[in-house]
Amino acid sequence: MLTQQPERTDQLQQRIEELGPWFHNMRLAGVETAPNHFLGDYPAIKFAAFRHVVPQDLSGATVLDIGCNAGFYSMEMKRRGAERVLGIDTDPHYLRQARFAAELEGVDVEFRRMAVWQIAELGEKFDLVIFMGVLYHLRHPLLALDLIHEHAARDLMLFQTMQRGSRETIPVDEDYEFNQSAPFDEPGYPKMHFIEKRYSHDETNWWVPNRACTEAMLRSAGFSIEAHPEDEVYLCRWQPVETPPDGPHCVYPARGPE
Ligand SMILES: C[S@@+](CC[C@H](N)C(=O)[O-])C[C@H]1O[C@@H](n2cnc3c(N)ncnc32)[C@H](O)[C@@H]1O
Repeated sequence: MLTQQPERTDQLQQRIEELGPWFHNMRLAGVETAPNHFLGDYPAIKFAAFRHVVPQDLSGATVLDIGCNAGFYSMEMKRRGAERVLGIDTDPHYLRQARFAAELEGVDVEFRRMAVWQIAELGEKFDLVIFMGVLYHLRHPLLALDLIHEHAARDLMLFQTMQRGSRETIPVDEDYEFNQSAPFDEPGYPKMHFIEKRYSHDETNWWVPNRACTEAMLRSAGFSIEAHPEDEVYLCRWQPVETPPDGPHCVYPARGPE
């Protein structure tokens, strides 16, 4: 077995440090990008808990990884044989890392700077959409799910969100009377917590749902829950939604001229 030459490893270590800080701990030619990550060996330890629900063989499939960061999941999907993987992220810092990592590992993934709000511009539907760790960073979370449903997802969506509050879920009624307010105080009623200031020292955390709210939003946006392999992670499947008489749920981007 060939071992890394010490001077090559030093150069790689230096380049990895220049590209830091990293949120994804990747092993690039044996060198870890974020060995002291506050979540441990992230995302590898997270992925270990749900990797079995993602199709092992993605031959011929197309994948869109929204909020791809340094590309850990994008590269994993390409390694599972996906024909095409597109990773998008708003942050050029993370995209630089992703391009560097994929090139070094010889994994063919396209990375583009793009926000979830722009996915209609792709004009393409994907067999698997990965939407992990982004929802709670958005000021308009349900709109993002609606846009994914309408413009990008064809079949599966791998989804994750931070959750806080009760883990209970209660069946909600079809309708309630105006003076019925008690259901809102049930721990298992869907609720989103709004972060006006900061949570976990991060000004990009905006909305944190409880479990019931996560699941209700997924269903409401037209995604059935096929698997729930760990607390925060869901494998979902696209379902048709009834279009309201005034048009699809998404009102953004605005409809063009009639
Ligand atoms: C917590 S990280 C999650 C990274 C990765 N998906 C994972 O699960 O490990 C959130 C990522 O979403 C990106 N992001 C934030 N807002 C976004 C948006 N509006 N559209 C696309 N990406 C976004 C951030 O730049 C960051 O890379």
